[in-house]
Amino acid sequence: RAIGARRVLVLGDGMLVETVREEITVACARFGGQVRHRQDQAGERFDLVLALTGALPAMPTAADAGHPFLGSDAAIATWQYGWRGAPEALGGEGFVLTRREEVTVVLADEPRGLLYGLFEVVRLGESAFGSGLGAAIHRPAMRLRMINHWDNVDAHPVMGQVERGYAGGSLFWQDGLPRRDLARVQAYGRLLAACGINAATVNNVNVHRAETHLLTDRLGEVAAIARVLRPYGVRVHLSVNFAAPIVLGALATADPLDPAVRDWWASATRRVYEAIPDFGGYVVKADSEGQPGPFAYGRSHAEGADMLADAVAPFGGVVHWRAFVYNHRQDWRDRSTDRARAAYDHFVPLDGRFRDNVIVQVKHGPMDFQVREPVSPVIAAMPATRVAVEVQATQEYTGQQRHICYLGPLWSSVLRFAPHGPDGSTVADIVAGGGGFVAVSNAGADHFWTGHPLAQANLYAAGRLAWQPTADPTALLDEWIGLTFNPATGDDAEPVRRTLHLLMDDSWRTYEQYTAPLGIGFMVRPGHHYGPDVDGYEYTPWGTYHFADRDGVGVDRTRASGTGFTGQYPEPWSQIYESLDDCPDELLLFFHHVGFRHVLHNGSTVIQHIYDTHFAGAERVAEMRQQWHELDGLVDPALFTRVVALLEEQVRSAEEWRDQINTYFFRKSGVPDAKGRPIY
Ligand code: GCU
Repeated sequence: RAIGARRVLVLGDGMLVETVREEITVACARFGGQVRHRQDQAGERFDLVLALTGALPAMPTAADAGHPFLGSDAAIATWQYGWRGAPEALGGEGFVLTRREEVTVVLADEPRGLLYGLFEVVRLGESAFGSGLGAAIHRPAMRLRMINHWDNVDAHPVMGQVERGYAGGSLFWQDGLPRRDLARVQAYGRLLAACGINAATVNNVNVHRAETHLLTDRLGEVAAIARVLRPYGVRVHLSVNFAAPIVLGALATADPLDPAVRDWWASATRRVYEAIPDFGGYVVKADSEGQPGPFAYGRSHAEGADMLADAVAPFGGVVHWRAFVYNHRQDWRDRSTDRARAAYDHFVPLDGRFRDNVIVQVKHGPMDFQVREPVSPVIAAMPATRVAVEVQATQEYTGQQRHICYLGPLWSSVLRFAPHGPDGSTVADIVAGGGGFVAVSNAGADHFWTGHPLAQANLYAAGRLAWQPTADPTALLDEWIGLTFNPATGDDAEPVRRTLHLLMDDSWRTYEQYTAPLGIGFMVRPGHHYGPDVDGYEYTPWGTYHFADRDGVGVDRTRASGTGFTGQYPEPWSQIYESLDDCPDELLLFFHHVGFRHVLHNGSTVIQHIYDTHFAGAERVAEMRQQWHELDGLVDPALFTRVVALLEEQVRSAEEWRDQINTYFFRKSGVPDAKGRPIY
């Protein structure tokens, strides 16, 4: 409404400028404003000007005091920002936003910058037109801000259509065929652009048979998606099967050093670029959880990745090569093998051996998207490699979009982590210089996009943190609330805002309280990973153990007496994690095996802490349910009802977690709860 009710001038050409015009035209048709493509009469005034710098009339100088729409101050101010003559100041996606003499001005060198500038004005709403708006240059910290869909074309017999998907079916395929009507995909492209995301893989990293064909005979389906996402500045990438030359090309091998294999990839890739000229590149999960890879041929992951990198290089493409490589068939009796070590052990020796267009994509923690893990040591250990950090917006281990769990604070803590100590660079600095930020998508065909309507905030935060990793996650949540619960749609904004902050600000920590304690992770039901099962993975080959016995719990990952994982960190963390005294409480059981009566920094014992947090967590969820009910009548009724049902389930599940975890540890330890609460 803030834009649609005003007089707007859009200057420039190009597909994304057309997108901007279209957005504003629709808004003006709805709210009575006007949009112009050029200034017809000298002196005509506008409230908002969005312009490509190349499309501006002759460069204003101080002498052009009467410059028609900028006014002298704005002209000089923007000139001082060097937006012209120094294009690197803005970059391909940056923009200047300023307001002088009652005109709000967005200037960008490239159409993509103008699109992001538009969404910034949308975010600001009325305040973009107030005197308080300062002049500023906006630029994304990360060049690659990517979403990975884990969508399958066909429904997988165990995983369903979207692997670890909790938002209905795929946005792209239905019943094994591409969706005919791509209107929803178009709306999704708009949503991604509004969050600041500029790249998307459309298919699962586990590339099954039908999806392998997306590279060749089903490429048209990918091209159709790319066509729809292109006007929103989102490039399409594809997850590929490393064995594609065998599966699709009838070659006898997929050996990356075999000339026939290299030729096969080169020509397949050439055809991809003929169909999709701005194709982003490949994402590869190799030698991981049963996926094929270079190990079968005695080749390294650098040799595998470089072969694909050479295929996409002539077209400016990149290869995201995932570092999630570990032995998923380990013997649970063998305590010397540590899954947490695997990515570092496999990849760090290869530092410097990857091509410039290879990005090693590293999960944020060394295990697997648990509610609490230390930051992966790989991120800081490959200075000669482009590294991306991967987070999981889809809530596989954080409540599966049935629980409210706002992950902005978790991701923010990862991005702010300084592997070499407070004076060194942060994870955000490292990945901004290389591979960027990747989030596994949580969106699907669900009416609310994300199953749990409040899980949309995670998608939003993922894009916004990739743009500005130093942003305060609570402020980002506030932005999302403002954009989603809108007085224009009948929502009563202020009570909604207050209640959503109450429910969501600390929801990640609440989830942590009632699930696996002190960084130990897992304790979920094997297979689908929902709900508690403390020993579910304890005697399996997956490498995810807690080692609880009658005396204590936790994994000894020290150099002194354990797996030596702490040695993968640089100082000071190597020493901090190694030391039982210095290790942060929340990661204690990730790094140490301790007795139940071990005293934490917070003064409580491990066992009492387990009881206290589990009672508190479940209690907090019951409060959240009550708080949500205060919004009855203040938000969209369908959304209200959906969240009511989901909160019922969250309460039930949190109580189940509480009782199973508390009972398990009471029975193991024999230590009663100091407060005498019910344990079974
Ligand atoms: C987890 C998840 C799998 C997924 C894998 C991955 O292990 O459970 O479904 O394939 O991560 O990231 O590749």
